[in-house]
Order: sequence, then structure tokens, then C-alpha cells
Amino acid sequence: MKNLKDKYYIDTWGCQMNEEDSEKISGLLKGLGCNRTSVRKEADIIIFNTCCVRENAEQKVFGHIGELKHLKKANPNLIIIICGCMTQQKGMPEKIIKKFPYVDIIVGSFNSYKLPEYIDRVKKDGKSIIEVWDKEDGIIEGLPIDRKSDIKAFVTIMYGCNNFCSYCIVPYVRGRERSRKPEDIVNEIKDLVSKGYKEITLLGQNVNSYGKGLEPEITFPNLLRMVNKIDGVQRIRFMTSHPKDVSDDLIKAIAECDKVCEHGHFALQSGSTKILTEMNRKYTRENYLTLAKKLRDNIPDVAITTDIIIGFPGESEEDFEETLSIVKKVEFDSVFTFIYSIREGTPAAKLQAQVPDDIKHKRFNKLVEAINEIVERKNKEYEGKVVEVLVEGASKNDETRLTGRTRNNRLVNFNGSPENIGKLVNVKIVRAQPFSLIGEIV
Ligand code: SAH
Ligand code: SF4
Ligand code: F3S
Repeated sequence: MKNLKDKYYIDTWGCQMNEEDSEKISGLLKGLGCNRTSVRKEADIIIFNTCCVRENAEQKVFGHIGELKHLKKANPNLIIIICGCMTQQKGMPEKIIKKFPYVDIIVGSFNSYKLPEYIDRVKKDGKSIIEVWDKEDGIIEGLPIDRKSDIKAFVTIMYGCNNFCSYCIVPYVRGRERSRKPEDIVNEIKDLVSKGYKEITLLGQNVNSYGKGLEPEITFPNLLRMVNKIDGVQRIRFMTSHPKDVSDDLIKAIAECDKVCEHGHFALQSGSTKILTEMNRKYTRENYLTLAKKLRDNIPDVAITTDIIIGFPGESEEDFEETLSIVKKVEFDSVFTFIYSIREGTPAAKLQAQVPDDIKHKRFNKLVEAINEIVERKNKEYEGKVVEVLVEGASKNDETRLTGRTRNNRLVNFNGSPENIGKLVNVKIVRAQPFSLIGEIV
């Protein structure tokens, strides 16, 4: 069914891996001759690529599917597709269809590459399809990818997760770890460079596990070294990596590879060893402090960013104070803070000592205040300095300005001509704002 003239619309929730999946779905649809629209009501095909890592992510999706009812009524030929992690939960596809019978296709993360076939079937017989696999038949290489940016590209190097942190649903919906072959990754990056891409972010739920089970085995630091040798790549990033698996060799590789940016996202989750044990994170508060010190000692100007969960079951005031104090000690460059959300089917959901909502919110606010103070203070240190920025495009808030990031991932806005988009420029920072820097090209 080539050359559908349909317009499609995609909304994506969740992490960068979901973003990349959407780029693949978009690539498949463009391959059919469809065109993308950013206006929902103009679309013939609407796709929601969902996330279920926290309950509010799920609630949002339900709200959006509900909003489609009137569009389907106005256009019975509209095809509504729900895919992504939410659909991989037991009983969820049935729940979605029951609540929203006008949904046409529910497809899982492992078989979303089959969408063209499912769309064809729905067009022919009009019957809803639920097709959710619990694993794929091998990693599918060579799918077309319609990337959002033409400067920065995400490249997934491994899928799934084996860590089973006790609060987290990802291993249940994304399956076990499996790595792409290094030659497939290198070839994809060479192709990206030939198309003018400047920055590559290597993605995985725990990139440190990359290469296990491959023949021959290869470590993540050695993959970084391979990618670093590709001519034309300007910057390499990676995310995310589990603190328990950060080896000295990884720190060495970041320090020695000129293209690997000085930034690591290492999710801390909690500053209390007791809570970390309950979370099944397999490192202690002291281990994390040692890691942070090693990073700062070996990689000049390194930015350390993190994720923290507030209100994990059994978190006492003392545990929370430990989180607050480690945040102040490490002086994180940026922190994503989350309120613990019960995920059915995970071990933590069964724990009795759930923290009351009002206490969670109080702790959350106190933590965010401390983080903001640190981030703002650290940003101030950049005033007067000259930094290298990869220019990504026009600033979100002011079309007449340019925006980009430093090697250590700080957002910089500055005046400059659009000719600079896609280039590395030197910017002198004139003013620090709480979450960004303002500068001038020098
Ligand atoms: N694999 C990544 C994390 C992916 S999920 C890593 O380990 O670094 C992104 C973040 O969501 C996690 O780091 C965690 O902070 C948060 N998260 C996961 N499950 C959650 C839950 N049940 N409630 C609240 N936050 C959660
Ligand atoms: Fe979830 Fe833990 Fe795996 Fe990250 S490492 S995806 S937090 S189980
Ligand atoms: Fe969400 Fe799935 Fe990513 S649950 S965080 S979209 S792996």
C-alpha cells in the first residue's frame, strides 16, 4: 500500500528512547507516502506513543485519547493508534479498548515496525487490532528514521533493562537487555555524519551494560572509543548509565576521548543507603560520593546530572535529610525530581509504608528549592567565561535569538545570525539565569 496521501500526527511521552521510536514510526509512515502534520484535527492517522513510568504520564494519555472521540465522530476514517510502553502492561490494551472503543490499533513497543501492515488491515476491514508482543524477533536494523533535528541524533545502542529497581516498570515493558552490534551502530553514525549531523547521543536504559552477550563482547567505554574515531562527529553524549556500573575505564574514556562531552547523567534516586537498598540499586551513598569525586577529579568542568525520587515507601525524615545533604555535597548541575508513583506489578508497590502525599510534596518542594539554589549558583560561575556552543536553532522563547548547549550540557541563548545554526561557536556568557545562560558570540 504505497503512496497513501494520508497526513499523520504523533504525540510522544516518556524518555529519549520513546522519542527515537517515534522517529522510526514517522520514518515508516513517510515511507508509505504519508506527510506529517502538527495539527491534530487535520490528521488521517493519529499516533500516541505512550509512557507508563509514573501514573501521571498514564493519566495524561488517557485524557488525550478521550479528546479524540469528537475527531473520530467528525471523521470516521480517522485511524487512532496507541503504541509505546503503556500498551505493554498486562491488561492495559483491553482496558484502553473498553474505555475508548474508537481506538483502531494498539501495538506494543516490540512490534511497532509492523504498523504499515496493521494500518493496511484496518483500512480494508475497519476492525480494531490489538497486537502486543512480549519480545521482538531479534533487533530490527535498517528501519527508516525520520529525525526531528538535523543537527543532533539519538542512536539507541541497547534495548531493555535487567536491573529491576524495585519501583520501576521499565524492565517489565521493555524486556531484557540486548545490544546492537558495534558495526551497525558505527555505520548508522557514519551515515548521520554524511548527512551533516554534528552531535550523537548514544541511548540505553543502562549504557554501561552495552555489549554483554555480543560475540565478541565489547564494553561501553570501548564503544565510545570506536565512535570517537569516526571522522566528522563533533560531539558524543550518552544516557543513561547506572551508578553501580560506572567503571574507572568509563571515566578514563570520557576524559581521553576528545569528542565525548564532559557530562554524565547518573541517576542517584536517593541519598540514603537504606532506601537505596530497598530500591535494589546496588550502591551506597558512599559509593555515589566516591563516583562523583572521581568524575570531578578526572574530568575538568564535568557536569553531573541526576534523577531523584522523593517519597519511596519507608522514606523517613532522616532518609530525606540524607538526600538533601548528598545533593548539596555533590553540587549537581541539574536534577530531575520525581514524586514516587506506585506501579502495579513492581515489588515496591507491595510495600506497606507508603509516604503520605502531603509529606511527599513538602519534601519535594524543599528539595527543589535546594537544587535551584545550587544550579543558579553554579550557573553564575559562568559569567564572563567563553564557552563552546553547538547552535541548535532559534530560541524557544525568542525567535530572534539562537540557542544551543555547552559541552557540559548547559543551555545558552544568544544573539546571532541563523547562518550559525549547526555550527560550533564560541559564546561569552554575560548573564546567568536560573536554568540557562545568556551570552554573545565572540
Ligand atoms: N534507566 C534510567 C531511568 C529510566 S526511568 C536510569 O536508571 O538511569 C527515568 C527516571 O524515572 C528514573 O531515574 C527514576 O528517577 C524515575 N522513576 C522511575 N520509576 C518511578 C516511579 N515508580 N515513581 C517515580 N519516579 C520513577
Ligand atoms: Fe528502571 Fe532501574 Fe532499569 Fe533504570 S536501571 S530503567 S530505573 S529498572
Ligand atoms: Fe517511559 Fe517507556 Fe521510557 S515507560 S520512561 S517511555 S522506556
